Amino acid sequence: MSITTGDFRQRITVHTLAERKRKHERIVSLTAYDYATARLADEAGVELILVGDSLAQVVLGYDSTLPVTLEEMLHHTRAVRRAVQHAFLVADMPFGSYHTNDDRALENAVRFVKEGGAEAVKIEGGVSRVPLIRRIIEAEIPVVGHIGLTPQSVHRMGGYKVQGKTAHAIDALLADADALDRAGVVALVLEGIPREVAARITAAVATPTIGIGAGPECDGQILVFHDLAGLTFTTPAKFVRRYCNAGELISEAIRSYRDDVRSATFPADEESYHLPRESHPALGETHPVPVVGRK
Ligand code: KIV
Repeated sequence: MSITTGDFRQRITVHTLAERKRKHERIVSLTAYDYATARLADEAGVELILVGDSLAQVVLGYDSTLPVTLEEMLHHTRAVRRAVQHAFLVADMPFGSYHTNDDRALENAVRFVKEGGAEAVKIEGGVSRVPLIRRIIEAEIPVVGHIGLTPQSVHRMGGYKVQGKTAHAIDALLADADALDRAGVVALVLEGIPREVAARITAAVATPTIGIGAGPECDGQILVFHDLAGLTFTTPAKFVRRYCNAGELISEAIRSYRDDVRSATFPADEESYHLPRESHPALGETHPVPVVGRK
């Protein structure tokens, strides 16, 4: 059953993303990892849906993004693909799937398109990733870049820390952004950097920037679905805006269900199937009469 009534929107492509930057129209982006949430995001008009490797933390319960595998990412990308009809679908290449060997990285990128149905892959890193990114683009696969706080580099960074706070770090970020822009990325995620630095990068590059913890001047914003919906169990980062508390709503629903089962008020008679008396008279006669009240 569709939640919306009319559906007249066009598919978002690499051209739409570029055009939105030119027209100063913000790009709404969100992560999704399964059919239901991807469908809700797509029907709500989100332009870019990312099957993020944050899957590792918010869905699979790991404490970093590092353990999630290529097969797990593909499994979730396929589920999201089945739901998405309009948004531009990007899949995150997980840690290890592009770090050891460029040939294997290219093969893995191809799998996201061929088996997962993604329209682009996202790769963390700056200047040092440019040769690989160029190869993937040459293989007809659009690439989304990701610089600043790159969670797959948590050990090198010494924790999840805001990046680009010194003159040297700012110069390095500007060089990364410029190199990725020249390589032809279709969008550039800026994560966990000062607003002023993100604004400078956004003004300098032709590709749309998508911010997360990077201030309002970016060409678009992205949030992790579970952060937006209040489905996380740790204190959210400063940049998170929680748009509802689905965790509390779902908890309440589960507690009500628990109480109804324990008090035998679920299922009620109208939630039960009945055997027509004539089809089995003997059983019909002994059919137990509900002993509890109906809702
Ligand atoms: O994995 C993810 O959710 C991401 C976004 C935070 C950009 O990479």
